[in-house]
Amino acid sequence: MNDIRFMPVTKLNEKQAEQELERLASEISHHDELYHGKDNPAISDAEYDELRLRNKKIEARFPHLKYHNGPETKVGSTPSVTSGFAKVAHARPMLSLDNAFDKNDVFEFISKVKRFLNLSDEDNIVLMAEPKIDGLSASLRYEKGRLVQGLTRGDGKVGENITNNLKTIDDIPKQLQGGDWPDVVEIRGEVYMAKEDFFALNSHQEQAGKPLFANPRNAAAGSLRQLDSDVTAARKLHFFAYAWGEVSEPFGKMQWDCLQKMQDWGFVINDLAKRCDDGETAITLYDRIGNIRASLQYDIDGVVYKVNRLDFQDRLGMVARAPRWAIAHKFPAEKARTTLRSVDYQVGRTGVITPVARLDPVTVGGVVVSNATLHNADEIARLDIKIGDEVIIQRAGDVIPQVVEVAKTAPDSKPIIFPKNCPSCESHLEREEDEVAWRCSGGLICPAQRVERLRHFVSRNAFDIDGLGKKQIAFFFKEGMIESPADIFTLEDKDAEGLPRLKNRDGWGELSTTNLWQAINANRTMAMDRFLFALGIHHIGQQNARLLCLNYLTIAKFTAAIEAAQDPNSEAYGELLNIDGIGPKVADTLISFFAEPHNMQVLKNLLAQVTVEDFEAPDMGASPVAGKIIVFTGSLEKMTRQEAKVVAEKLGAKVSSSISKKTDLLIAGPGAGSKLKKAAALNVKVLSEDQWLDLIK
Ligand code: IVH
Repeated sequence: MNDIRFMPVTKLNEKQAEQELERLASEISHHDELYHGKDNPAISDAEYDELRLRNKKIEARFPHLKYHNGPETKVGSTPSVTSGFAKVAHARPMLSLDNAFDKNDVFEFISKVKRFLNLSDEDNIVLMAEPKIDGLSASLRYEKGRLVQGLTRGDGKVGENITNNLKTIDDIPKQLQGGDWPDVVEIRGEVYMAKEDFFALNSHQEQAGKPLFANPRNAAAGSLRQLDSDVTAARKLHFFAYAWGEVSEPFGKMQWDCLQKMQDWGFVINDLAKRCDDGETAITLYDRIGNIRASLQYDIDGVVYKVNRLDFQDRLGMVARAPRWAIAHKFPAEKARTTLRSVDYQVGRTGVITPVARLDPVTVGGVVVSNATLHNADEIARLDIKIGDEVIIQRAGDVIPQVVEVAKTAPDSKPIIFPKNCPSCESHLEREEDEVAWRCSGGLICPAQRVERLRHFVSRNAFDIDGLGKKQIAFFFKEGMIESPADIFTLEDKDAEGLPRLKNRDGWGELSTTNLWQAINANRTMAMDRFLFALGIHHIGQQNARLLCLNYLTIAKFTAAIEAAQDPNSEAYGELLNIDGIGPKVADTLISFFAEPHNMQVLKNLLAQVTVEDFEAPDMGASPVAGKIIVFTGSLEKMTRQEAKVVAEKLGAKVSSSISKKTDLLIAGPGAGSKLKKAAALNVKVLSEDQWLDLIK
């Protein structure tokens, strides 16, 4: 073996050790920057730890070669890297897109749109198709034609104010041209770096001895997040406009017309964007764009289809965080061949054990991959994969790379032996009958699970505390400083009492510590849906968290109701099950979570530190049905049941699946049966579909 990267530390001579320390310092700082500065790690935590461990071992063997400023002197990267920009709420959320991976998904998308809108199969839905640019989205706010603010997408609700950096981009007009723009208009689109400029930047970085960017997207991200906008200006960035946020008045009836308007105002619109009369035409365009993909000046990862009619878009609305009126048709995943060297086992938040393949590094779609998921034990059996085999891996967009098949098995390959005990706490692994995943039975005694829960608690869509990312959580946990969520909020007080103080520790300083305390304090008041999501209860994702908020409105009412629901004969249990969207599985998981004294203690401690805001349903102001419990029955004629439900929820109503004396309104279409009778018996007000539409206008 002549590659010193793989030589055991004990075999390295002094010269090799020196080379290795240099390589490791640069690699570790590169990954720190990816992880903390760009939220975009390229390697797994375990692999990162391996790099640091190797560095440490070499330093221990050759102490005189130790770098003055080497990796062992730092904990992660300074938190202030991520806290340099002010956070600003988006006037309208910035959405993401659902994905289609093949033609069938696209046709299914079109059918769904038609079903939702109550159109027949023969009706035509005109789509706009355009490349999906692999960059970063930004929202540009213009008031009276002047660019006043530019935000990153952030978590979709709150972005970072990077106005000065965006102003350095030539494709972004500082003053809109023409004069027919609304007084307030937010133009949204993608910031990207052209491939050519990316290669030039990287060769520049290389000459300067600085870390290289993995791909144009990372380079664009790194350039946009510069605190010094002169640096951004020196990196060539571009912008394609493709959407909008808040507008003081509509500026078109069709997606297509709006794009033309944006072009008139001085924006660059992608010239491959086309109107397509139906799905077939859209897919033909997808194939065409796929064929010229490599020759384009910028990276794209698919084609986005959008329903052209804006009145349809309005009616379709969104689900979770993606519009129902658009979909991203992704290009097939990129594949590569490499060798499986070993398998490690990671423990997730709920104890699920995920086998991770350690591979010889290989480049897939411009990124070096050395780990891929093997999903679970069944998948290992299905692939019939052994250590030493040559395998095909694939990587699609942001998805974790995965092993898809064995290309060639080696004669001396060794079987993969799935462990019987947890790699973190040694507890035995168990699996439920209908589940594929093995779980660690250690629960709260398992350090790996506890760290993962804490990580979830501070993750982007939960508490999202600047400067408190995965690495820092792992550090504070290891040091015994954060063991449960409430500890985050007492960290500053404990630090004031303890020795050594955080600001004097390696990798932390006065500024990063002050920033951390500030970021923690800024999160002492939390929206109820984020709070519920942060608790990390199985099945309570963002959507279910919102649904619960809509129905219970305050954290006090919610916890009281779930505790009361422990009795399956209680009214509270019935109410929980009545929530349209919450089935028995979710209900039971919630109830068991709240029945566990330890969880209640964690919650109590947390509530002593954090104020949870009461939930305010959107658009409740003048809504005639805000807070009302509504049931739909029979067939509706003017809109589908699904659309009716969405509209009602938008107006702040709670949609229930069955009638009780708490029901405020029953909307009954033709064919209504037992529910109508029950409503009459319980004196529940009944409306026809027309009366309902009249009520909500
Ligand atoms: S439309 C409501 N169009 O893809 C519609 N998005 O995966 C919002 N993206 O966050 C987006 N090219 O950053 C749209 N032509 C395009 C796009 C595009 C790239 C990005 C955008 C979005 C992400 C969703």
